Amino acid sequence: MDRTPLGIVLNGVTGRMGLRQHLIRSILAIRADGGLPLRDGRVLWPEPVLVGRSEAKLRAIADEHGLTDWTTDLEGALARPDVQVYFDAQVTSARVKALRTAIEAGKHIYTEKPVAESLSEAIDLARTADEAGIKHGVVQDKLYLPGLQKLLRLVRGGFFGRILSVRGEFGYWVFEGDWQAAQRPSWNYRAADGGGITLDMFPHWHYVLEQIFAPVRAVTARSVTHVDRRWDESGEPYAATADDAVYGLFELDGGIVAQINSSWAVRVNRDELVEFQVDGTEGSAVAGLHHCRIQPRAATPKPVWDPDVPTGQRFRDQWQQVPDNEVFVNGFRAQWEQFLRYVAEDAPYTGDLWAGARGVQVAELGLQSSNEGRRLEIPELPR
Ligand SMILES: NC(=O)c1ccc[n+]([C@@H]2O[C@H](COP(=O)([O-])OP(=O)(O)OC[C@H]3O[C@@H](n4cnc5c(N)ncnc54)[C@H](O)[C@@H]3O)[C@@H](O)[C@H]2O)c1
Repeated sequence: MDRTPLGIVLNGVTGRMGLRQHLIRSILAIRADGGLPLRDGRVLWPEPVLVGRSEAKLRAIADEHGLTDWTTDLEGALARPDVQVYFDAQVTSARVKALRTAIEAGKHIYTEKPVAESLSEAIDLARTADEAGIKHGVVQDKLYLPGLQKLLRLVRGGFFGRILSVRGEFGYWVFEGDWQAAQRPSWNYRAADGGGITLDMFPHWHYVLEQIFAPVRAVTARSVTHVDRRWDESGEPYAATADDAVYGLFELDGGIVAQINSSWAVRVNRDELVEFQVDGTEGSAVAGLHHCRIQPRAATPKPVWDPDVPTGQRFRDQWQQVPDNEVFVNGFRAQWEQFLRYVAEDAPYTGDLWAGARGVQVAELGLQSSNEGRRLEIPELPR
């Protein structure tokens, strides 16, 4: 088999996302399966160059996974001619500077979201990347969740008729860190370090709404900090200055109203950590990470409001599971494969830095809407 090596700098592999989703479940998983087959018969072989700030952590990760190529010198790694792609999974606040350096070095870039902390930086980055003529992509993993893939299948198959509304619930309790360790990094809860759930989740909701339903035209949001004191990784208390919940209303083309609650201060009373209910004239669906249940128009029961009599209907049992009908691979890996095909053989690709900038735009307008207490329209981005 003709193996074509492709050098990829992976920056931020000591972090949660960088290590688990991108290195282990994507790049190493592709290698474990023998590489990525291309249309012309070649096999693309990703060669990771691990980059980070801590020699000890990088060495430990490399040793554990049988890798030898790692460095704390980002610029040195980007100067290598055998490196063609730069990937960033660092904390959000470190992203723009590193992406710029990679663009200047002429590398294609693939990055975690949000692409920047502000819209102006995100636009500037997308323009700079276009001018440099490099290829760029942004992680849009939620689209590849099996539950949302099934939802997309229903939309494309016309199941819903006219789509009326979307109700999303995302969240779980993130421990404060005092009597039980927090399950998310502390920078997420400090505004000055790029934290905040609006900046974290609105970029996701934007591409989910835009790509499964319709363009998003207006946003109204309320961002709040419910838990204002937390304990960091070393057990020190700190003031949680970033928003940990956001209640958002999005208006889409076609009159679709999407309402999505995102919270790190909510206890789960759902089947999955995220669920979207979609109601249409011909049927409804509830999609989560893995599952998707439907209730078509013809099978819709007729509840009658009667506060005096406990209902005999078991509403949850009145829904039907949508079958998998295919094998779903890890969403991060699926997207890596698309991006690598885009780089290697110019395969079609849509989630670029402009899509990433639209996500940052909705987050920024959401925060502004919350601060000013008003609904904001979402203008087209100036290119
Ligand atoms: N796509 C998704 O579903 C998803 C989920 C969670 C996080 N993210 C994004 O991924 C990125 C990383 O998030 P994470 O949860 O893996 O964070 P993390 O704290 O676990 O990892 C952060 C990484 O950045 C590095 N880093 C570089 N400069 C740093 C600095 N000045 N301070 C602290 N760390 C620094 C760390 O060493 C580490 O490798 C964020 O931008 C976040 O928004 C995406």
